[in-house]
Amino acid sequence: MIKFNQLRKVFDDGTVALDGVTIKVEQGEFVVVLGPSGSGKTTLLRSVNGLVSPTSGNVRVNDVEVCEQSLRMVRRKVGMIFQQFNLVGNLSVINNVLTGSFSTYNKWYSNLYIFSKELRIRALAVLDRVGLLDKAYQRTDELSGGQQQRVGIARALMQQPDVLLADEPIASLDPMIAYNILSLLREISAEDKITVLCSLHQVDFAMHFAQRIVGLSEGKVVMDEPQKDLTAEYIRKIYKTHDKGLFFGPESKPYSDDQLVTWSEYK
Ligand SMILES: Nc1ncnc2c1ncn2[C@@H]1O[C@H](COP(=O)(O)OP(=O)(O)O)[C@@H](O)[C@H]1O
Ligand SMILES: [Mg+2]
Repeated sequence: MIKFNQLRKVFDDGTVALDGVTIKVEQGEFVVVLGPSGSGKTTLLRSVNGLVSPTSGNVRVNDVEVCEQSLRMVRRKVGMIFQQFNLVGNLSVINNVLTGSFSTYNKWYSNLYIFSKELRIRALAVLDRVGLLDKAYQRTDELSGGQQQRVGIARALMQQPDVLLADEPIASLDPMIAYNILSLLREISAEDKITVLCSLHQVDFAMHFAQRIVGLSEGKVVMDEPQKDLTAEYIRKIYKTHDKGLFFGPESKPYSDDQLVTWSEYK
């Protein structure tokens, strides 16, 4: 479970990235944080594992406030996947996955890529789960983008997280691969009761995959509703535009709320 309580983040240069965010995310929930570039999505996600510290307000993970004292414990329970995958390209797939167990294993050994048999078996099991068992000993940079993101997911699963932060995990991928990655995340969240906070900037993917959508605009929550309640009005609030054609295809004439296009229709 994650609780954001009146979270505010002002960077040193005076930029207000988050402006009083209060949200509660239940264990096992799949929440999409939807917002345009610069709306505060990355800052919000990074506050959960302490990579960003609040100017005021706080974040709680499983009822523990994220702060310097709790950071090690929190990070053990919070996995992260990234837009650019953040993998080591010249390393084998399995060694990239094994680095996900760093926080729970002796640093000295892990820096030398010496891992116990038990951990290596666990790494192969998570690779099997994301459909990459046959690639375990291949160099990571030989894999396609979608496969690399699945390695990123496998690495995060290595730490058996309660929470998975996915910061625009599909921004570097083709639409069909993106669909595949979000399906995988959604399935893992449901099966393992992992809380997923996934930032996206595409309305169509959010509508298709989210259980709940938190809409951000200029650091403020302007929507917090089940996915089915995303209306044209909310889209206007999130994107500050009246031209929904921008988001639903080439047509520029505004749609009414009941004309919102679902992903399956869109494709
Ligand atoms: N380290 C930083 N220093 C100053 N401003 C930042 C920093 N990180 C992000 N920002 C600013 O905070 C706002 C929110 O950024 P971000 O959370 O990255 O948004 P998003 O992920 O939705 O694009 C933006 O205006 C961005 O320029
Ligand atoms: Mg971002």
